[in-house]
Amino acid sequence: MHELTVPLQGASYPILIGEGLLEDSARWGPLMGAEAVLVTHPGVENLYARPLAEALGPACRGCYVLPDGEQHKTLEDLNGLYTWLLEQELGRGATFVAVGGGVVGDMTGFAAATYMRGVDFVQVPTTLLAQVDASVGGKTGVNHPLGKNMIGAFWQPKAVLIDPITLRSLPEREMRAGVAEVIKYGLIDDAEFFEWLEDHLEEVLALETEALTYAIKTSCASKARIVAADERERTGARALLNLGHTFAHAIETEQGYAQWCHGEAVACGLVLAADLSVRMGWLEVQAAERIQALVDRAGLPTRLPEELGVEQLRAHMRHDKKNVGGRQRFILMHAIGQAEVTDQVDERLLSATLAGVR
Ligand code: NAD
Ligand code: GLY
Repeated sequence: MHELTVPLQGASYPILIGEGLLEDSARWGPLMGAEAVLVTHPGVENLYARPLAEALGPACRGCYVLPDGEQHKTLEDLNGLYTWLLEQELGRGATFVAVGGGVVGDMTGFAAATYMRGVDFVQVPTTLLAQVDASVGGKTGVNHPLGKNMIGAFWQPKAVLIDPITLRSLPEREMRAGVAEVIKYGLIDDAEFFEWLEDHLEEVLALETEALTYAIKTSCASKARIVAADERERTGARALLNLGHTFAHAIETEQGYAQWCHGEAVACGLVLAADLSVRMGWLEVQAAERIQALVDRAGLPTRLPEELGVEQLRAHMRHDKKNVGGRQRFILMHAIGQAEVTDQVDERLLSATLAGVR
């Protein structure tokens, strides 16, 4: 079993990682508080949430199943959860436990941040994407038709429990999507990890214990370090985690959150960010080719869908949360493992990237 810490002032919390962790209730039971409710998705309920509920025994006050899919990550769908929580007469002492992917985690976290002005919550991520990214760092929220994750709060979990065995039931497409966020960490500030991924990608995708655990642990350690440096994304350090996401969020919003999954959009966003970095004169063409090759080997999209217009994507990017004082900010790369936030992007180069990578 591996234990990492997200070192935040007054609110540090553990990330436990290990195959078989969810079977070990002696290890995680005390983290759930005296009264817990589980929030999950239909495909995950019987596999992981119900066994957890059973292990919790009378401390479990119930299990709420959110409708599946990014298109249901809305305030409207969250309201069903608030109503159920109130009907159960849950008080402020309750702990909300998110069992599922990033959608369940983001929505449960936001419910925890807002229910009776804030209750504890624990993340039990069951997709690779949620295990390496979404469950750590306390960004919670829902989408709005005008933009992704536009309504939300920073609300840190009390603990993150990662059992890689849960990935055995994950559809292959979702597993590949999670790899996009793993690649991202190598690109931000860890060239060695990027190289390791080039050598071990197939082992990770095949869920080989050693490689998979190493990929999850290294990703979580990166995320914990970056979040600790800039919990509320004020200095720019945390914004680096959004590498590829300015493009990804525009794609997802334009697609109505219903075509590509988040990780697929991030994968394409990484290739677009590399292309723009080359056009800006920051990144060598050979490095961009390595990035595209790894994304491609992971079975992820490297080109924008033809039907998405440049102007529509640009319009979504103008609403990006990172923008400051009307200036658009992008995360670009000087090299693999050397990303930087910039508001100096030439509009013509951006349009050329959007028009060219198809
Ligand atoms: P998801 O939550 O939609 O899960 C993908 C699918 O897999 C769903 O159908 C789900 O029910 C199913 N599933 C989950 N675990 C399973 C398992 N073990 N076996 C079988 N099926 C399983 O998608 P995701 O990729 O996990 O998360 C994407 C979301 O995460 C996006 O909304 C994104 O914005 C958010 N996100 C948040 C952060 C953050 O810091 N808060 C970071 C990255 C992404
Ligand atoms: N996934 C971006 C962040 O957590 O800041």
